[in-house]
Amino acid sequence: MKTHSIALIPGDGIGRDVTEAAWAVLKAVAGQSGFALKGTEFPWSCAFYKETGRMMPQDGIETLRGFDAILLGAVGWPQAVPDSVSLHGLLLPIRKAFVQYANIRPHRLLPGMEGPLKAESFDILCIRENTEGEYAGAGGRVHQGLDNEVAVETAIFTRKGVERIIRYGFEQARARRRRLASVTKSNAQKYSMVFWDEITQQLAAEYPDVTVTSYHVDALAARMVMAPESLDVIVASNLFGDILTDLGAAIQGGLGFAASANINPDRTAPSMFEPVHGSAPDIAGKDIANPMAAIWSGAMMLEHLGEQDAAAKVMRAISAATEKGIGTVPGKDTTGTITKAVLNALI
Ligand code: IPM
Ligand code: MN
Repeated sequence: MKTHSIALIPGDGIGRDVTEAAWAVLKAVAGQSGFALKGTEFPWSCAFYKETGRMMPQDGIETLRGFDAILLGAVGWPQAVPDSVSLHGLLLPIRKAFVQYANIRPHRLLPGMEGPLKAESFDILCIRENTEGEYAGAGGRVHQGLDNEVAVETAIFTRKGVERIIRYGFEQARARRRRLASVTKSNAQKYSMVFWDEITQQLAAEYPDVTVTSYHVDALAARMVMAPESLDVIVASNLFGDILTDLGAAIQGGLGFAASANINPDRTAPSMFEPVHGSAPDIAGKDIANPMAAIWSGAMMLEHLGEQDAAAKVMRAISAATEKGIGTVPGKDTTGTITKAVLNALI
């Protein structure tokens, strides 16, 4: 039997609750579909940091490299470890070391979901650059604590990095409704975003079948609220994509439904799948976190692993549950109830 080996990193807070739920669904669908999932759990988290002084062991990246994929819950426990330390010690190094340059986030209304907008339906795929740009980590602070203190955080846009993410956007658009929104801010950012626009135009020549429009990020944020049905694939830099995908989560009914995949399209290293939401320590372990985003992320993992039928089954089961109103009203159903409903709907 075909076996996929998965590294499980539940992380902190509700990351543990939702990873357990997603894993139960994934194991069940594997059993029904004739393949096996072998999970190896790693306790890397802020609690691990408190014990060892590191978010993951020194050879953590090398350990993960041997897996077919990584399923991650959430990272962060700001009362104990500053977010700037925990994220730069676990999540962000994995995205960068494994060249997971495409962060893919689907935003659509599941059956039974209303969302806060008047729009009855929309189906947006946001592609966020995931390794460089505004979150490259280049910068520094000098004269700390003095009144002439300076902090510099330099955005890094490389031709290779921009080309590959925009190309990925074109490819996704080609496989969908053939419309690409390229997110810019070249009216204010006259180097990086003018460069981004130029590359968008250069690649457009290779994809005459895709209609590409460049939108300034502020205008696109408004469009996502006012006319989300007019959007198909969005491609954005790291920071812009980060912000727009929280907006995407909001319009699809909340972070409990926002799934994401950190993809290494060249498959030179494992890809990582995680819900967009954070660790929400205040509600951790109370059986109230919505596991839908984690389960959906698990479906994206199956798709990446080549298990398309099983992935579609999971998505059908999620939809069957939301159609019955399960998990759709914040606070109404427990993590356990929602997970059971999805499990029962797997056929
Ligand atoms: C996300 C998160 C992370 C990001 C944070 C926690 C560093 O907000 O996945 O969107 O911005 O990449
Ligand atoms: Mn974010």
